Amino acid sequence: MAAASSPNSLLQNPNFQSKSSFLKNPNSNPESLPTPISKKSLSISCTAVSSPSPPLVAKPHQDRILNFAAGPATLPETVILKAQSELFNWRGSGMSIMEMSHRGKEFLSVIQKAESDLRELLKIPEDYEVLFLQGGATTQFASVPLNLCNPGDPVDYVVTGSWGDKAFKEALKYCKPNLIWTGKSEKYTKIPSFDALEQNPDAKYLHICANETIHGVEFKNYPVPKGKDTILIADMSSNFCSKPVDVSKFGIIYAGAQKNVGPSGVTIVIIKKDLIGRAQAITPVMLDYKIHAENKSLYNTPPCFAIYMCGLVFEHLLEQGGLEKIEKKNIKKAGILYDAIDGSGGFYRCPVEKSVRSLMNVPFTLERSDLEAEFIKEAAKEGMVQLKGHRSVGGVRASIYNAMPLDGVEKLVSFMKSFQAKHV
Ligand SMILES: Cc1ncc(COP(=O)(O)O)c(C=O)c1O
Repeated sequence: MAAASSPNSLLQNPNFQSKSSFLKNPNSNPESLPTPISKKSLSISCTAVSSPSPPLVAKPHQDRILNFAAGPATLPETVILKAQSELFNWRGSGMSIMEMSHRGKEFLSVIQKAESDLRELLKIPEDYEVLFLQGGATTQFASVPLNLCNPGDPVDYVVTGSWGDKAFKEALKYCKPNLIWTGKSEKYTKIPSFDALEQNPDAKYLHICANETIHGVEFKNYPVPKGKDTILIADMSSNFCSKPVDVSKFGIIYAGAQKNVGPSGVTIVIIKKDLIGRAQAITPVMLDYKIHAENKSLYNTPPCFAIYMCGLVFEHLLEQGGLEKIEKKNIKKAGILYDAIDGSGGFYRCPVEKSVRSLMNVPFTLERSDLEAEFIKEAAKEGMVQLKGHRSVGGVRASIYNAMPLDGVEKLVSFMKSFQAKHV
């Protein structure tokens, strides 16, 4: 397992070729340097070369703000630094990942390692395929019914927020989805009791959104489909790899990478192998799981750089001890924030029912809504950005994915307390 640790250890990595060593290398062509790189990167590299111990990579925290965005979201600093160190010349190949053939041995090693690390993290059983696809989780809203249903087939949707609602509406085009529960009238603040769900025993699948990014509602356990052939499908875009999951309970798990595991551009689909190969005839080739499974996600040019970044994140999660450890950290971070909200005497308020509050996306409002804009502006001045709630719901939302450090949440809480003290 490659270590993604401190900037200095990256510089000691024998595979890491620094800019200064590149300039000293008699085989490297200095003429080729100025053309492709901008003035800005040139001036940065000059500083690095003239420094006695070249700071080729920024120190963690040094130039970084606390980014509470819902996605694309903050990534682990060591991962960004490792990518930076490998950007120009990936592990001695003389190319960046972005310039490599997706069919060459270098990139094949990247995608294969990303898959095997993800399998280790989530303990994905052998009878499941892992696909790295394009089109975002939104494309999966169509891919799922297209791959599993004929146009007349019934399927069940439980809608606990806007993303589940979008998935349901997309499915209307390709099969006969039934909305068996929606939390809309209660502004998406709840998860239903599973016993009360009127599932159709003939449904091909039961679809849920495991964590509603906008409303901050998260399933803490999962409904069991009632039909003997009904499978459970989950959109896990915003809590993917935030905690252990028993993959065997699901037919399909899908997730856009850009919250917890990488940049935008790649969507991960984990699918039970026996569900592959049933696509409707009209299914576009790019949405057909069979095509992608047969070609190991390399049917066409995949989002290579995004897959590489996910691979670095998976490695980093394993280095931290896996998803049990990650979940503990996430529980602690979210606990601090929810406690601050609940302990504010009503100055801050989270509308979500306590038992289903998300560990990843924490929405809250201020008793005095006229103060919300000031709250967001003042927080930004203190280096905490992207706290505005989604445009559809307003208020404040702090997304505290895996990569948000505990001290980032503590800083937010301390800011919340001083903001309250100023305004009571
Ligand atoms: C839970 C959930 N599902 C689906 C999506 C849509 O993802 P994408 O933008 O990758 O299509 C999002 C985006 O934020 C999301 O949070």
